[in-house]
Amino acid sequence: MMNMENEKELLISLRDITVDYGEKPILENVDLDIFRGDFMAVSGPNGGGKTTLMRVMLKLLKPTSGQVEYFHDGEFAKRLRIGYLPQKSMIDTHFPISVRQTILSGLQKGFLGRMPQDYESRFDEVVRLTGTHDYLDRRIGALSGGQLQRTLLARAIISDPEVLFLDEPLSYVDKQFEHKIYSIMEELSGRSTIILVSHEMSVISRMANRHILVDHDVRQCSHCTHIGVQKSGEE
Ligand SMILES: Nc1ncnc2c1ncn2[C@@H]1O[C@H](COP(=O)(O)OP(=O)(O)OP(=O)(O)O)[C@@H](O)[C@H]1O
Ligand SMILES: [Mg+2]
Repeated sequence: MMNMENEKELLISLRDITVDYGEKPILENVDLDIFRGDFMAVSGPNGGGKTTLMRVMLKLLKPTSGQVEYFHDGEFAKRLRIGYLPQKSMIDTHFPISVRQTILSGLQKGFLGRMPQDYESRFDEVVRLTGTHDYLDRRIGALSGGQLQRTLLARAIISDPEVLFLDEPLSYVDKQFEHKIYSIMEELSGRSTIILVSHEMSVISRMANRHILVDHDVRQCSHCTHIGVQKSGEE
């Protein structure tokens, strides 16, 4: 076990992270390392700080104190090729952008503004995978919850990211697409590093190699079978 740990390639390192919006800190003294190939399941109670932790890892939110560092082949890296499916509550659905533009915006971000040569075939592939072809020209504000979730998933995976962050990808989707998401995750987990927030862990926990509970602090749990709302201090 220790030997295997030593061979892992560090991608993201969080050191002594605290996030404080005023009264009491949302996250405190968080240390966390993400290694290439990890599939990390993230759970915890509403308001526990899961989305905040993701936004810190994505460098979208500067922590009050502590360091976030990226690595690539053992060297410091400014950025990583990242895909992100934000929680639906973080999306401004009034923004006048079509489904097609939303999905393609995942590419532009991943490739530093340049469109990769094969983007059309990659676009077709994620549209097929996510079943979004019927409403590509519709504005995102006119989508159902599940349709928006599919659109956000297509956007997150279109750049074939090396690290994929998914914040509650299962909310709003029907059972059939939930299973589709599981098979997409299974397929991606072979070549991407995945960090996935969910309250529905029965299938996810079998795919994940790591599991953390976020509730003001972060605790790693190695063999969680039932993942409910566990408060700090409870075992
Ligand atoms: N911009 C902000 N200003 C002040 N407080 C905030 C801000 N963003 C989040 N919070 C607070 O930080 C805490 C953690 O929020 P966060 O969204 O990270 O929780 P979560 O674990 O993702 O919850 P959920 O399961 O509901 O998605 C909450 O108490 C929330 O109200
Ligand atoms: Mg959240």
